[in-house]
Amino acid sequence: REYVVAILGATGAVGQRLISELEQANIPVKQVKLLASKRSAGKKLQFKGREITVEEATPESFTGVDLVLSSAGGAVSQKLLPEAVKRGAVCVDNTSAFRMDDDVPLIIPGVNDEQLAHHHGIIANPNCSTIQMVAALYPIFQRFGLSQIIVSTYQAVSGAGKAAWDEMLQQAQDLLNGQQPQAQILPTGADRKHYPLAFNLLPQIDVFENDGYTHEEWKMIHETKKILFNDQDSSQIKVTATCVRVPVEIGHGETVYFVVKDHAASVKAIQQIITQTAGLVLQDDPSKQLYPQPLQAAGKRETFVGRIRADEENAGAFHMWVVADNLLRGAASNTVEIAECLVRDNLVRVPQD
Ligand code: A2P
Repeated sequence: REYVVAILGATGAVGQRLISELEQANIPVKQVKLLASKRSAGKKLQFKGREITVEEATPESFTGVDLVLSSAGGAVSQKLLPEAVKRGAVCVDNTSAFRMDDDVPLIIPGVNDEQLAHHHGIIANPNCSTIQMVAALYPIFQRFGLSQIIVSTYQAVSGAGKAAWDEMLQQAQDLLNGQQPQAQILPTGADRKHYPLAFNLLPQIDVFENDGYTHEEWKMIHETKKILFNDQDSSQIKVTATCVRVPVEIGHGETVYFVVKDHAASVKAIQQIITQTAGLVLQDDPSKQLYPQPLQAAGKRETFVGRIRADEENAGAFHMWVVADNLLRGAASNTVEIAECLVRDNLVRVPQD
């Protein structure tokens, strides 16, 4: 079987990488449709050396489409993906629009792709920060169990989209030229006040909840529980997060503090588990100053782990430093890997129920 694949948000920071990841994927592609907003209609992009004209995304765009890879923002997904499913297309969505819905699997291939079998047309890609953290923790969770996670993130600007990324580069240029930096988007276009990110740190990603956490922090907490425990009792694990935007272009960093249930765990054993897990790369050697860095992770699909240390004053507790390309590992690669699993398991069909 060959598939008609639509990329929704094809002109965006993640969309561009969805195109290149699909080019290299193990998916027989009959035709590709590149969809974006009206502003981009008529623009020409390449797929496998062929020129494809970008079309404005409308409900009718999905007629005859088998598979949708989407990254055009939550509101666009909310509006268009149900239309795509109605027309028989299976959608893998990068936005947070459907992630916590009970009938939407939230998938990291290699962690919980067996849950794809129960999809109803929409499959959600977790938040970029959740993916790299859970990818690194999952084999540790399987071997030693986990009772608590405390994470602080150092998130690259590209995760806020292409316009925010451009805004930060302009701010950096202005500051170096001795001019006032302008801010119209960052920390988030969805809130009222805006601040420069260049040469700064912004402890706000997405909007604030009533409890003082940001929505990004909320996502990391609840998505992690959904992925690790699915329908079972997720009160078995405590998760809390602080998310910070840093003036890095590509590659999120995370300090992950975690407590295991089985106190037989050791730094050596955890390092060995990381080394043995596909998709994880251990970069952990203080004697050689070896540790993961965003500049080195950018452009790679793997999740890089280092600085693994025991908390000497708290038995069973450890620190680690996790870095991955947020646009690839945290978004486009994960999405296309989900699509590959769907193709592999013959699940590119919308169940009739
Ligand atoms: P466009 O380039 O035409 O604005 P990013 O995550 O980098 O901000 O990219 C967002 C993506 O979502 C872009 O491809 C953008 O297209 C697309 N997009 C934004 N609004 C819409 C919309 N209303 N319908 C379809 N695509 C949209």
